Amino acid sequence: MSTSKLRRRLLLAGTSMMFAGTTVAQTVAEPVFGTPGKDSGWIPTPEGMVEAMLRLGKTTREDYVVDLGSGDGRIPILAAQVFGARSMGVEYNPDLVAFSQQRARNAGLAERVRFIQGDVFEVDFSSATVVTLFMPPAFNQKLRPRLLAMKPGTRILSFIFGMGDWEPDESVFVEDQRGMLWIVPAQMGGAWTVNVEGPDPARYALRLDQQHQKLEGRITIDTAPLPLFDARIDANRVRFTALPNGRRHDFDGRLVGGRIEGTLRVTGVPALRRFSAAR
Ligand SMILES: C[S@@+](CC[C@H](N)C(=O)[O-])C[C@H]1O[C@@H](n2cnc3c(N)ncnc32)[C@H](O)[C@@H]1O
Repeated sequence: MSTSKLRRRLLLAGTSMMFAGTTVAQTVAEPVFGTPGKDSGWIPTPEGMVEAMLRLGKTTREDYVVDLGSGDGRIPILAAQVFGARSMGVEYNPDLVAFSQQRARNAGLAERVRFIQGDVFEVDFSSATVVTLFMPPAFNQKLRPRLLAMKPGTRILSFIFGMGDWEPDESVFVEDQRGMLWIVPAQMGGAWTVNVEGPDPARYALRLDQQHQKLEGRITIDTAPLPLFDARIDANRVRFTALPNGRRHDFDGRLVGGRIEGTLRVTGVPALRRFSAAR
């Protein structure tokens, strides 16, 4: 065959391949239940539950939702479609990633929703404000230190499976199945010195013993250390009550830059007093 004939043939073949590529859109087949992954296979969270959980987590368009083990992509897509959030799915199985990307493109959401192929344990998802999961307990247990190290206030949502002794803050039930919410607590355990401001300044020694969002502790207001009541951490907010001589002292503060800043209400004293605490 002459060189010019060969060149013409190659050109024709190339054009028809390009043509095939643009006109016959490749369709990725629907995944089947149980499609293998790494630490679990694919079983989807029912869509009604996905919406209920994202609502429980107060998801808004300001959020960045990351689904760890994103399966057919339904959670990141619904987070963008219904709540206007930006979102990402991390999925080990490349066929599921291709299927999810196709769904996002078809829904016109390719700009707001991203899917990446990878192992959750090797992907940085620390900028997420909402994390979703439907993974076995052993996976959750292994992932837990990374979740607890996220920015205080990050919402974690899991379908069916819990986080061991880190109890959920709230639950939602859809057709007898449970979705759970955890709010990442700030780390406030340890010894603090509380300085109360105002016309009658005071200094108290405070000891906080934290287990996730649960709090116990003691505060020395007069001479003896007193137990704390109703002590709790919500994201970076801390609240507790002490009863020196039966007189209620309600502390309500926030951890800001390593210090707790807040207000103290004492029964019988009309004005709130400001306090700050340092380690
Ligand atoms: C039970 S499905 C949940 C899918 C989706 N999150 C939902 O709730 O509809 C778990 C998914 O995680 C994927 N997976 C398992 N281990 C993984 C890992 N280490 N990293 C990333 N994806 C993983 C599986 O392939 C599967 O699609």
